[in-house]
Amino acid sequence: MNHNPSPIPEPHATPRINPNPNPIPTPAATPPDILRCAYMDIVVTDLAASREFYVDILGLVVTEENENEIYLRSFEEFIHHNLVLRKGPVAAVAAFSYRVRSPEDLDRAVEFYTELGCRVERRPGGFTRGIGDSVRVEDPLGFPYEFFHDVEHVERLAWRYDLYGPGALVRLDHFNQVTPDVPRARAYMEDLGFRVTEDIKDEDGVTYAAWMRRKSTVHDTAMTGGNGPRMHHVAFSTHEKHNILYICDKLGALRKSDLIERGPGRHGVSNAFYLYLLDPDGHRVEIYTQDYYTGDPDNPVVTWDVHDNQRRDWWGNPVVPSWYTEASPVLDLDGNVQPIVIREEPSEMAVTVGADGFSYTREGDVTKGFKLGDTL
Ligand SMILES: [Fe+2]
Repeated sequence: MNHNPSPIPEPHATPRINPNPNPIPTPAATPPDILRCAYMDIVVTDLAASREFYVDILGLVVTEENENEIYLRSFEEFIHHNLVLRKGPVAAVAAFSYRVRSPEDLDRAVEFYTELGCRVERRPGGFTRGIGDSVRVEDPLGFPYEFFHDVEHVERLAWRYDLYGPGALVRLDHFNQVTPDVPRARAYMEDLGFRVTEDIKDEDGVTYAAWMRRKSTVHDTAMTGGNGPRMHHVAFSTHEKHNILYICDKLGALRKSDLIERGPGRHGVSNAFYLYLLDPDGHRVEIYTQDYYTGDPDNPVVTWDVHDNQRRDWWGNPVVPSWYTEASPVLDLDGNVQPIVIREEPSEMAVTVGADGFSYTREGDVTKGFKLGDTL
């Protein structure tokens, strides 16, 4: 029987790398019961340009807006928003926000992060429009995380086919975060109650990325190894592949194909169909569809070999270098850009981009490398 995806090679007898030499302590406190990734709060430098991108081109629905902020949601959403565009001087991420099951879970979040020694602030309802009381933290990795339960309900537009366009974005699917030490981040996120669904490793035990979920999809967020903390992308779902192809055609027709950074394509990891766009500030947005159900407690973890060139694109197309190197800064709770910590372990780009002889389409084939490696 074929291995599909290919397993990583057998590890060295003695792992050369301690997978988590600097662990974040596991709190004794019970973590908050997180339902799902709910919205991202991003700072943009030109609100009109961002509105054109997110509303006029991508078709996200405006719940509410004023001269400084725009609150956007997807077609199947019933909570107030999935994305906040906030006008400011530096393009960055102000919050990765998760919905929790009950108001008591806000107390649990306070206890959990206080025990970790993190900066924790309660924000009263209305601090963010449409959102009730929330807890914002600077998490151990330096990311601004938010938890909330109470929220204003708005019309779920799922049946409003009079409003649907062929490229309709129907759900917020996930966040993706850049952090230097993936095993450290992974262990902390598991303490927070996340389950890992897939990861990318090499034969030396280096982890390059990990995907983790609360809802029953491949992920609510992923940890991508690199200089961080930074935000790699925020992803919205369409129902089907052809909806993503429509978005590509529309961008071409508008002579805005330069907004496409990577794709369209089929991921190996997650098995989803994808497209990566860059907004006017360079915030990366993924359009994503058709991953798989992960809700059983014994859902198998899929581990990919970093040298398998089908892991990031199932058709073997190379990843553009900017996708590995560029990401958005994140803010602390005062609105200042968080300092960057450099990744010490090998970078995924360095070990896989280009015809370096270390990547393969068929395991054991060291002569061909990337199918399209010479194009880089
Ligand atoms: Fe993604």
